[in-house]
Amino acid sequence: MAFQVHPPWLLLRFIAVFILLPAVASVPAAAVFDDNYVAAYGGDGYHLVNQGAQISLTMDKSSGAGFRSKLMYGSGFFHMRIKVPAGYTAGVVTAYYLASEPERDVQDEVDFEFLGDKDGNPITLQTNVFVNGHGDREQRLRLWFDPAADLHDYAILWNPFHLVMFVDETPVRVLKNLTGQGPGFEFPAKPMRARGSVWDGSDWATDGGRSKVDWGRAPFTAGFQGFGVDACAASDTTAQQCGSPDLWWNGGGYRSLTAAQQAAYEGVKRNLTYDYCTDKSRKNSVPSECSFS
Ligand SMILES: *[C@@H]1O[C@H](CO)[C@@H](O)[C@H](O)[C@H]1NC(C)=O
Ligand SMILES: *[C@@H]1O[C@H](CO)[C@@H](O)[C@H](O)[C@H]1NC(C)=O
Repeated sequence: MAFQVHPPWLLLRFIAVFILLPAVASVPAAAVFDDNYVAAYGGDGYHLVNQGAQISLTMDKSSGAGFRSKLMYGSGFFHMRIKVPAGYTAGVVTAYYLASEPERDVQDEVDFEFLGDKDGNPITLQTNVFVNGHGDREQRLRLWFDPAADLHDYAILWNPFHLVMFVDETPVRVLKNLTGQGPGFEFPAKPMRARGSVWDGSDWATDGGRSKVDWGRAPFTAGFQGFGVDACAASDTTAQQCGSPDLWWNGGGYRSLTAAQQAAYEGVKRNLTYDYCTDKSRKNSVPSECSFS
């Protein structure tokens, strides 16, 4: 019989080649946590659970959890998919941010902070920017979706032209680099690490600190995905090269908002529930960027 001429292993090998080839030829697998990040604290296998393509951070009374990028960066398009803890989360802060080191007093920092709340109250997104330790640049926004219901994209574009924070495709904050245009304009310039955490913000995060973490509702768990990094690795000595126009996030399409992005951003600005630039109760005068038009 003709079929006996082909031993079974040949057929198997034939099948194997066809099954394996497309996998080998396809795009590289999505980055896993360990490629670019490490635990910063809570790395005990419970507070930070690493499943490769996704991690969860859990806070209970004994600990919160945090992670950081292995490298520091001087420019980039930083992005993360995040689902914040659901239910009663007053006092619980979920953060995704960039920070220079050391983190205190003189740091540059760019923050996404999700401020948990009591049942039925929407979670607020707070953003902030520090330059040389000067913060007090909070903006707060009620998102147009529930960030505890699903994963969404949060991104920070940081290049020599501006810093733009995106929620999904929508710009929610823009800080232009005006440092060449006069005294007093500040813009993050130090190499920064990307970080994420879930932590106890009882003393400030919800109702100005009146609604604390209710440990009876713990644990509080956030999910993170998307551990690829599109950024320029930098030490203090190489940060200059991170302004190169050859890096895609420094290129023509990323130097200003498109008309559609600008229109979406105007809508977001109208919905801010707090803006440092218009806060009449501030003790300090508002930073210079507030009066730039
Ligand atoms: C901001 O702009 C100044 C002036 O053009 C430039 O020298 C500096 O490198 C820019 N900052 C960053 C972080 O790219
Ligand atoms: C702004 O608020 C209005 C009214 O609550 C809402 O319909 C709209 O989706 C919000 N837009 C943004 C960008 O948050």
